[in-house]
Amino acid sequence: MPSYRLPMYHRQSPAVRCLNFLCAVLLTMVLITGIIMFVLWLSLRPHKPRFYLNDFSIPNLNRQSGAVNLPVRFTVDERNPNQKIGIHYEAIYGSVYYGDLLVASGPVHQPFYQPPKGDTQLLGDLTASGPTSGDGSAWQRFAGDAAAGNVGLRLMLNSTVRFQVKVWDTKEHNMKVDCEFSLRGDGTLQQQDKNKQCLLYF
Ligand SMILES: *[C@@H]1O[C@H](CO)[C@@H](O)[C@H](O)[C@H]1NC(C)=O
Repeated sequence: MPSYRLPMYHRQSPAVRCLNFLCAVLLTMVLITGIIMFVLWLSLRPHKPRFYLNDFSIPNLNRQSGAVNLPVRFTVDERNPNQKIGIHYEAIYGSVYYGDLLVASGPVHQPFYQPPKGDTQLLGDLTASGPTSGDGSAWQRFAGDAAAGNVGLRLMLNSTVRFQVKVWDTKEHNMKVDCEFSLRGDGTLQQQDKNKQCLLYF
């Protein structure tokens, strides 16, 4: 039966040893570059802004003839949590829903730049387009909820944002903010929903 052994000691030529050395240097450089990139990415990576529903009201919500033309007012706190990164907002647009019925919508804020660590109060002043007594069952549910003192609504804000890292801008993101809350029968915000954080979709 043929048998063979691996050589115990393989003598490397100077060329092979030189190649090994170059490989080691190259790998070390790649590793160090990787670590530097990772640290840079950690410190420059943008964090998403945060939104809190500060206040919301529809005065005279409980009147009998429908919500049409009632003022819809709200305050949403926007905060940029980044130390070094500013945020450019395009125009912010707001929509208020009762279930899937649009209650009010319109522009909320002009385009603006939010510097690092900055915050802005977004003041919404819209006019209700519904529900009306003509909306049938939706209006009946709405009036019933108002009489019971608990009207569940949803405020959606949408915009386009861009992060600005010192000198370069990153790509545009479509942004959607989703605040769920309830109003009392008189159209003011339920206490437990004050300053509730809204969901953010990028
Ligand atoms: C926000 O939503 C409104 C209504 O759906 C739409 O007209 C507007 O173009 C949207 N804005 C952005 C920036 O997506």
